[in-house]
Amino acid sequence: MSDIAQHVAVSDRVDIEDLDWDLARKHGLTDQEVESLKFFADIESQTVYYFLEVAKLQVARDPDLLTFLTMWNYEEYFHSHAITRLMEECGVKLESATERSTQVRKNARLKAKLEDFAQTMMAKVVPQRFVALWMFWGALQECLTMQAYEEVIRSTKNPVLAELFRRIAKQERRHFAYYFNQARDRLADNKGNQTFCRFIAKHFYAPVGSGVKTDAQSAELVARLFPNERIFEVMSYIERRMAQLPGMAGLDACTRWAAKIQPMLPADLRAASVPQIGGSKPSGGRAAA
Ligand SMILES: [Fe+2]
Ligand SMILES: [Fe+2]
Repeated sequence: MSDIAQHVAVSDRVDIEDLDWDLARKHGLTDQEVESLKFFADIESQTVYYFLEVAKLQVARDPDLLTFLTMWNYEEYFHSHAITRLMEECGVKLESATERSTQVRKNARLKAKLEDFAQTMMAKVVPQRFVALWMFWGALQECLTMQAYEEVIRSTKNPVLAELFRRIAKQERRHFAYYFNQARDRLADNKGNQTFCRFIAKHFYAPVGSGVKTDAQSAELVARLFPNERIFEVMSYIERRMAQLPGMAGLDACTRWAAKIQPMLPADLRAASVPQIGGSKPSGGRAAA
């Protein structure tokens, strides 16, 4: 079965109706969890705007790509919706997921607008290269997203939050696999695409959602999830996964970003030491969904 057919077969909104909300309330959420959950919900809710930006481009009018984007956007919408519901059930006062999403977008900074513009230009001038970048970038961001959900699953004492995040993480793994396999096909035997993606990662990598927060805000939110040295472990894990793509051996954009944000962080989140940057081994293979 092709990647896209596999995706169509299993795509669905994340199921939350059977979750035990009484149990969720009994365990409650820590202040840190509430902050993280708001951040996750905000980022998930922004997917529709990325979708709108890319869907208007001629290059996205490929039937397989449009099919994937539609399901991806649908699933991400319900991630935000489900996280918002959990917070509400636990007594956190919030606007609806859609209201939050509109509000967050309104605050989208000049950076996000410039990104949209640069994306449009790139898609016009070098459409196939742009699609390679879109897939590569998607893999990079979904990989971080998976790590973020898994971090909460490991740390939370709330079994309902853990179960919800296990369900969401399962979908994130599938998103990652799709982007990764698409990126692999588009980077294989194409030095130009490889160089271009490496260049963009080197100069512009920042975790998803950075365009709608200030640099310091998004750095702190990511570092609260992965405090101190943990951020470097996670970033180097992502780089090792990405190094399995053609031409991506030794990618160090994520570690560089983590090193760059250290001075912006509150003292309790900073790493005691910054690791030496660079060096991952290449290998082949497809990502499993
Ligand atoms: Fe998601
Ligand atoms: Fe995702």
